[in-house]
Amino acid sequence: MLEHFFNPSSIAVVGASSNPGKIGYTVLNNILQYGFRGSVYPINPKAKEILGCHVYPDLLSVPSSIDLAVIAVPAPLVLNVLRQCAEKGIDSVVIITAGFKEIGPKGARMEEEIGRLARKQGIRLIGPNCLGIIDTASSLNASFAAGMPLAGHIGFFSQSGALCVAILDWALGENVRFSRFVSLGNKTDISETEMIFSMGKDENTRVILGYLESVESGARFMEAARQVSRTKPIIIVKGGATGAGARAASSHTGALAGSDRAYRAAFKQSGIIHAESTQELFGQAMAFATQSLPKGPSLAIVTNSGGPGILAADACERSSLHLPPLSKESSDRLREFLPVTASVYNPIDIVGDASHERYKKTLEIVLQDELIESVLILLTPTAAVDPVAVARVITDLARSANKPIMTVFMGGMRVRKARKIFQNHGIPTYSYPEEAVSALNAMVLYRQWREQPPREYRRFEVKTKEVRHVFASVIKQHRHDLIEHEARSILKAYGFRLPESRIARTTAEAQKAAAEIGYPVVMKIASPDVLHKSDIGGVRVGIEDDKMAEDAFFHITSNIRLRQPHARILGVMVQEMITHGREVIIGITRDMQFGPMIMFGLGGIYVEVLKDVAFRIAPLSVEEADDMIRETRSFPLLRGVRGEPPADIEAIKDALLRVSQMAVDFPEIIEADINPLLVCPEGQGAVAVDARISIQE
Ligand code: ACO
Repeated sequence: MLEHFFNPSSIAVVGASSNPGKIGYTVLNNILQYGFRGSVYPINPKAKEILGCHVYPDLLSVPSSIDLAVIAVPAPLVLNVLRQCAEKGIDSVVIITAGFKEIGPKGARMEEEIGRLARKQGIRLIGPNCLGIIDTASSLNASFAAGMPLAGHIGFFSQSGALCVAILDWALGENVRFSRFVSLGNKTDISETEMIFSMGKDENTRVILGYLESVESGARFMEAARQVSRTKPIIIVKGGATGAGARAASSHTGALAGSDRAYRAAFKQSGIIHAESTQELFGQAMAFATQSLPKGPSLAIVTNSGGPGILAADACERSSLHLPPLSKESSDRLREFLPVTASVYNPIDIVGDASHERYKKTLEIVLQDELIESVLILLTPTAAVDPVAVARVITDLARSANKPIMTVFMGGMRVRKARKIFQNHGIPTYSYPEEAVSALNAMVLYRQWREQPPREYRRFEVKTKEVRHVFASVIKQHRHDLIEHEARSILKAYGFRLPESRIARTTAEAQKAAAEIGYPVVMKIASPDVLHKSDIGGVRVGIEDDKMAEDAFFHITSNIRLRQPHARILGVMVQEMITHGREVIIGITRDMQFGPMIMFGLGGIYVEVLKDVAFRIAPLSVEEADDMIRETRSFPLLRGVRGEPPADIEAIKDALLRVSQMAVDFPEIIEADINPLLVCPEGQGAVAVDARISIQE
């Protein structure tokens, strides 16, 4: 896949220059100096020879076929060069040139033309506005980067060329090794999705890393990641995560949404490991690229100092890792030689005067312990220890270890050499315990993701015809917001249980309705013009008898006449009052990139003040619905505290799946809240008390 980009037999550099200050020179020089084994054709209308290569005036003059063209001529010339590529039958092109959509409408128009031509001619494009591409296995450096990474198993793609430059420089210093290094630029054609598929198939790439600011097509991206993450870890750091995308919205769901929530949900649902920083990205990548996946979450920490051990244990506490005690046999063996001040519990503290010999004896026992699935080795450079000797002990033991090993040698000068040894031997090494724990945790979670059974998707029998009918009538009236009885009919069509209710036009009718439903009841204004009913005195709850019903009827109708004199009043709705439910909110919103998103949270202050909600992209699987309920911090309240019976979690799941189906069936729903959905005790279901739905044609 994309073979001509990463393993071409021949490359043309259009805009190759003999001026070492120009990008066209650097690209050609990089291709030649890093040992590309195929044919190289510099293209320049003026020069005869550059860097010892014969130069052709244009692509059509090249006598042989060309697999890959790299373009580094000014933006206005690019379209013409691309036409020549088409004529020459070149199907893979990297456009380094900047000056397209990133500079404004004029550049955007040029970029559109380029994209159109490429699609028409079946040419695949990387860029424009990119640094170029590197594939270490084929010794290809078709970029203007200053340097070539060492060959390894990390595939990296980035939307930012500048970040590529910085990371490459850092990687060279840290011995971080790459299989591929790709600057995506403006992503006119090839985007992160193709790169994930392509690196997924590349046998030299074991872990895929990406820096993204945006995603071109949310659904395709998720599909690619879902497929590829089954066999290779994908770790992505997302730039521009804060704030953007959140907007003024009429629903709680819309107000709490925002693009960061959408990305987090999409990553989680497609098995992508979400790194919070570039440091975490590479910290995790080092672990994935060099270590086997841990069998499970049981970690042992071996340390020569208390503080770092505690920091590591604290970080484990916040993660999915466990620190189990060692087996009795291991603890007994450790006690035989460790000083009495040592701790044989986990973290295993071999204390400050530990030498490399003590590390060796301890690690031999810990690495053999069947209860331990990975080992984190901490060292602070006391005068008693030779960090290099400990590093040698570890690299020796790592050869025969069948579990992941991570190292944290804290400090600076005295541990520098030891760290180099780890880098050269492919043992992940970190400056701080938290980084190592984060990497190991990512590995454990990734293994869980890979081993989970296929997801279950449910479809319910629903009455879409009725929903379509209601939406058509709302749109005909040039409205966006559904009024209460319309929203109720939508929920009913999707199988929700609603509180029993009747419209009453007089006090007597209200009393009759209440008697039929059974006291206590709730009474609310029924008006197409009143959306925020309780704000203007349009709702009364806990009506116990005929007298209170008479009173409520009078006050509700007078309040509305007074505060919203032009509102059309259809009457007062008398509604069954659900008394034993816990309030939750379920909502729909739409994300520009990922489409329908579903929200879940506990109602009232939990959503309004604490914003304790979970989002997922629809369609939801049964497992995802379950996950999002458990993800909220207030979940224990649903399980029941202080002797309360647990709420009906199955009913919430059912509601989430029905709402998810509704969001997918009806793209015209732009926002919706079911607020509250009152959840009864286990086995007794849930009732959708109120709903707000907004649609757009
Ligand atoms: N075919 C082949 N060669 C041509 C053609 C053509 N049709 N027309 C001109 N050339 C030659 C030129 O003669 C010149 O060669 P010379 O030095 O021998 O005269 C060479 O192509 C380059 O053309 P110049 O006009 O000199 O353009 P220059 O090299 O100054 O700039 C470039 C071209 C580098 C593509 C520039 O337009 C550009 O986009 N720079 C920014 C690139 C960039 O930042 N990309 C994003 C990177 S990501 C990041 O941020 C790090």
